[in-house]
Amino acid sequence: MYKIAVLPGDGTGPEVTVEAVKVLKVAAEKFNFELDLTEFDFGGERYMKTGETLSDSDVEELRQFDSILLGAIGHPDVAPGILEKGILLKARFALDQYINLRPVKLYPGVETPLKDKGPDDIDFVVVRENTGDLYTGTGGFSLKGTPHEVAVQSAVYNRFQVDRCLKYAFEYTRKHGKKARGKGDKNTLALCGKTNVLTYVYDLWERAFNEMGQAEYPDIEREYYHVDATCMWMVKNPEWFDVIVTGNMFGDIITDLGAMIQGGMGIAAGGNINPDPQGVSMFEPIGGSAPKYTGKNVINPLAAICAAQMMLAALGEQEAAGVIEKAVMYVTANKLKSLAAGKMGYSTSEVGDLVAEIVAK
Ligand code: IPM
Ligand code: MN
Repeated sequence: MYKIAVLPGDGTGPEVTVEAVKVLKVAAEKFNFELDLTEFDFGGERYMKTGETLSDSDVEELRQFDSILLGAIGHPDVAPGILEKGILLKARFALDQYINLRPVKLYPGVETPLKDKGPDDIDFVVVRENTGDLYTGTGGFSLKGTPHEVAVQSAVYNRFQVDRCLKYAFEYTRKHGKKARGKGDKNTLALCGKTNVLTYVYDLWERAFNEMGQAEYPDIEREYYHVDATCMWMVKNPEWFDVIVTGNMFGDIITDLGAMIQGGMGIAAGGNINPDPQGVSMFEPIGGSAPKYTGKNVINPLAAICAAQMMLAALGEQEAAGVIEKAVMYVTANKLKSLAAGKMGYSTSEVGDLVAEIVAK
């Protein structure tokens, strides 16, 4: 029995969450596990009514769950930053979800903007550190509002944060790297940084990366790329990558690029993971709330379904997770005309039905 907190959120979040839950319920039935789902209304509407985002007591409530499934956060009538900081980032920080795991995998039948690249070429994972860096909010203004105003925002990392993220990345690479998946002759972890300019923060990352790799993971091939070069090679030679580990800000940016090369926000999912056995992780489609498509039954729910699939894998339901992924791959290969909202050839709920039917078989 798994206790799941469901946070549909804003915009198209609720529509895609319904489809993810539909698939989860079918999987539970088929693979004999129970789901105890509790829905929460954190999001823009609630904020406008009550002024609340995610309070400390809300966080304590979420701590009681085995996992969290999130739809989307972001409301056109709420100023940018309030809901993102108050809900999404608050949950990530308060629940110490220090890993943001973002697979970049091109499924069969999905169009990629990269010419001559296919599913064999675009198949890697980004391990984004999820609690430090520019996201700590360290900084401030001085002389605000004057012509000499100064704004500072700092990239902050301590060794502990870097080490725990690297450890997760190395372990992940050993278990799920290309060799482990039968896709090559070695498992490779690449550090994405900017050691030529960020000579403090990425110096720390690089030293920690090499020390840990040498001492504990000699079986894993290590590579290093600057972040700008990472973007370049993700487009030109995505097949070079296996697992990439990086800081929070670069991870945010390169995973949007990753989402585009795997077919767009309709399919890209991620997990905010607290790897502690008692930790509560949160899984989400990485796209936003897409207000202009809200309520039209045209948004693609596959990213939310993939988020639910990652959640099951993290909960230990490998078989169910594998079957959901295969069902999604069948649907992209044989059913959908496009992954874009309104162009799928099916409605949101029909896409959910297609996946659910295959999982049930
Ligand atoms: C993401 C988003 C968030 C981030 C925003 C909404 C705060 O872009 O999940 O990638 O920057 O992490
Ligand atoms: Mn982002």
